[in-house]
Amino acid sequence: MFEVNAITATDKPGIYAELLPQVRGVLHGEKNLVANAANFAALVYHALPDINWCGFYLFDGTELVVGPFQGRPACIRIALGRGVCGIAAQTRSTQIVDDVAAHSNHVYCDSASRSEIVVPLLRADGSLLGVWDVDSPSLARFDADDRAGMEALCAAFMEAAG
Ligand code: SME
Repeated sequence: MFEVNAITATDKPGIYAELLPQVRGVLHGEKNLVANAANFAALVYHALPDINWCGFYLFDGTELVVGPFQGRPACIRIALGRGVCGIAAQTRSTQIVDDVAAHSNHVYCDSASRSEIVVPLLRADGSLLGVWDVDSPSLARFDADDRAGMEALCAAFMEAAG
């Protein structure tokens, strides 16, 4: 059984610094994408304060399809370029949206979501695996510290995927 340790830090860099080795631990020795994605989403969801949804959208060669996640049931398919997830996938750059209601290109899945961060997931050969999407019920929940922290967590995820 994998023991999840309670996060003791209260500052964001400290929270991510404690979370990263736990993510590495839960992924260690396993290459199955669905298994790793499911445990990754569960770990992050329970470790981070003030989030209502986190999970994967996986690129099927045409569009993004919802993968393992925690939170309420979500939109299933998102076209590239559509919504914050589709923009992150298309531009291959992390997107932070402080107020999803003020964002013209946001796909509503959970009406509780007010802000979000989406990190693109790229394989070593540069191809798109999908995106990692985290939503919060608070406005402007995500900042540069979250970007750095989430990108480090996602790098560990991609490393484990081989
Ligand atoms: N926020 C996304 C849609 C997915 S849900 O938030 C789970 C977007 O606009 O891309």
